[in-house]
Amino acid sequence: MSIQANESPESSATGDLAGKHIVLGLSGGIACYKAAELCRALIKAGATVQVVMTEAAAQFITPVTMQALSGRPVYTSQWDQRETNNMAHINLSREADAILIAPCSADFMAKLLHGRADDLLSLMCLARPIDSVPLLLAPAMNREMYAHPATQRNLFQLQADGATVLGVGSGFQACGETGDGRMLEPDQLLDDVIAFFAPKPLAGQRVLITAGPTYEAIDPVRGITNLSSGKMGFAVARAAREAGAEVTLVAGPVSLPTPRGVTRVDVKSAQQMFDAVSARADAATVFIATAAVADWRPAAASVQKIKKDGSGEAPQLAFVENADILAAVAGSTRAQSGALFCVGFAAESHDLLAHAQAKRLKKGVPLLVGNIGPATFGQDDNALLLVDAAGSQELPRAAKLHLARQLVATVAARLPKTLKNHHEN
Ligand code: C5P
Repeated sequence: MSIQANESPESSATGDLAGKHIVLGLSGGIACYKAAELCRALIKAGATVQVVMTEAAAQFITPVTMQALSGRPVYTSQWDQRETNNMAHINLSREADAILIAPCSADFMAKLLHGRADDLLSLMCLARPIDSVPLLLAPAMNREMYAHPATQRNLFQLQADGATVLGVGSGFQACGETGDGRMLEPDQLLDDVIAFFAPKPLAGQRVLITAGPTYEAIDPVRGITNLSSGKMGFAVARAAREAGAEVTLVAGPVSLPTPRGVTRVDVKSAQQMFDAVSARADAATVFIATAAVADWRPAAASVQKIKKDGSGEAPQLAFVENADILAAVAGSTRAQSGALFCVGFAAESHDLLAHAQAKRLKKGVPLLVGNIGPATFGQDDNALLLVDAAGSQELPRAAKLHLARQLVATVAARLPKTLKNHHEN
């Protein structure tokens, strides 16, 4: 049997996992079918992947498939003759930047917990240098097995022993039951692995973010909104989470997936966004306002649909100004005393620097991020201009996630000392 050219491993030297070598361990479970996609995703993100499988895993998916996807022969036995020193468990674990077990079966967890080492995968996990080679586990099992006190006890103890448990999904299971215990999807696991390797300059910080447009109702079927896609704010939320913060994202009406590990609060109108932010600002240490909040709302939304009355006259709409969420939060005692660091955004069409500088002073924030509205709304990339009291810095056009990570690093570097020590107190 040959491997088709279009099945050859994809690689990206510039991906989020460039330079990382992941040992991907598969234990026995139907979720092995997802490990094939995961292997591809890791490689696409720039990692090199060495697959190690238990005998049980090879009942669910063949080593041939995993070899084709990873571009490397798969290891299944501790007696593998290919290693000149005959110590595959040592060699494989010393080369790894991380060992990721996906799927990690209930049985394999129990083995890890007891330090058993009667097959290559468990032997390799036990032999790994515990301080320099992290062990990441993606459990996968039936909901009853997952909920069983023995499994929960094992999960708890494995974390105490230094493993990182990436959590489980919930929903329909291969056995026909519904509940917790599914293996996370490959794209979720990929995001978790990327986040795992990211530096953590926001550890201990609680970051509150607004994102997306708002929708101001005219009547039950019509309203006023804008072209903000929410992509920049969602990218900032993901980057802040990767950087170790606890993140709450207050999102206007957008259809974007919630970044992993981020708490999302959905709102529609500017007033709802204001209320949601006000209720959470006291708990935050950083506030980043990326939302394109409507400046005005109809003075009174009609309860019934406004109908044409045949006169040819358009209805007269009156507007009132929405409260400025950012200015209100930035003016709060906590923000003024340095306990809450506020960042604003400005979407302009021209004279970006002058407008951004003026807006920073008007909003009373230490850092304001300018961008050109028509060049960012709905786009996957953007260019930013960071403006503070000392001057300005351009972040050239790049993917929004890339810019969001740069912005988060900038914010972390600017946090007052009192906030940086926040989580240590
Ligand atoms: O005044 P302008 O709308 O241009 O200000 C943009 C900045 O202020 C953004 O950070 C936006 O999220 C925030 N803003 C707000 N509440 C408003 C209007 C703007 O938080 N009502």
